[in-house]
Amino acid sequence: MITITIANNFKPREENIIEKTRETNDVYTIELASDSNSLPGQFYELSVLGIGEAPISVASSSTERLKFTVRNIGHVTSKIFEQDRIGVRGPYGNHWPFEKYDRILAIAGGIGVPPIRSLIHELKGKKELWVIYGARTPSDLVYKYEFDQWKNLSNLILTVDRGDENWNGKVGLVTKFISEIPNLKNMAAFLIGPPIMMENSVKELLKYEVSPENIYLSLERRMECGFGVCGHCNVGHFYVCEDGPIFKYSEVRDLPEVFL
Ligand SMILES: Cc1cc2nc3c(=O)[nH]c(=O)nc-3n(C[C@H](O)[C@H](O)[C@H](O)COP(=O)(O)OP(=O)(O)OC[C@H]3O[C@@H](n4cnc5c(N)ncnc54)[C@H](O)[C@@H]3O)c2cc1C
Ligand code: FES
Repeated sequence: MITITIANNFKPREENIIEKTRETNDVYTIELASDSNSLPGQFYELSVLGIGEAPISVASSSTERLKFTVRNIGHVTSKIFEQDRIGVRGPYGNHWPFEKYDRILAIAGGIGVPPIRSLIHELKGKKELWVIYGARTPSDLVYKYEFDQWKNLSNLILTVDRGDENWNGKVGLVTKFISEIPNLKNMAAFLIGPPIMMENSVKELLKYEVSPENIYLSLERRMECGFGVCGHCNVGHFYVCEDGPIFKYSEVRDLPEVFL
């Protein structure tokens, strides 16, 4: 008799949360006991028993413990912070193709920043990395306690849409600062954040002759399975979970729903 064993990719493993950090009013970071075992840009499905699952990007580098930064917006994301143990399955999806490039510009808006944190810690200053990270207000910036370290590992530009009485940094949308990056033409650009931010960043990068082949977007869609079975996450003929979440702009630019 031949026995065929089929791996159950849906089955989460239970993990202890060993550290919790409140980042802002509605964003928190959790660290798990296990090693990251994943690359910047990939994601996991996190679950709370009896509630459900949510896809969340890896915020850690491959040599750290597994870390996630989550905005509390609904059923699952509002419960994770209260748990001592959560369900985890993954990693899923592809990663930023950082191996291919020596000069990288990463642009992150809002809660898009966790995979860029992962990238900064993965590269450890070994490549020329520029980071533009924008949030609505100073109190919406996450990982504030790491910014000095990020400045040692990258060329960091922090900006907010609206400052306050304690903010003496840059004010303006992330697109305003793209022109400050030297020799953009021969760089790769990794973009993650609200669709409108990515759309306007692409327009600006094209003005500076960055090749559509070297611009990468991380797309977000509602997901169920996370690995190409349920068909919930399609953009054109792609599944975001399996073909992405990271796509070359040249591959998706003709799909009308890319920036939705
Ligand atoms: C590949 C990937 C990586 C992600 N990484 C992160 C991350 O690192 N940190 C993080 O905080 N979030 C991340 N998200 C978004 C996160 O998955 C959703 O916020 C989460 O699924 C919401 O689940 P919930 O059950 O708490 O909310 P629900 O109760 O399901 O929804 C609450 C509200 O949010 C809306 N909503 C839910 N999911 C989405 C979505 N994906 N896009 C737009 N609106 C949505 C619903 O329509 C509803 O209005 C990622 C999503 C994807 C696809
Ligand atoms: S989430 Fe099921 S196919 Fe992508």
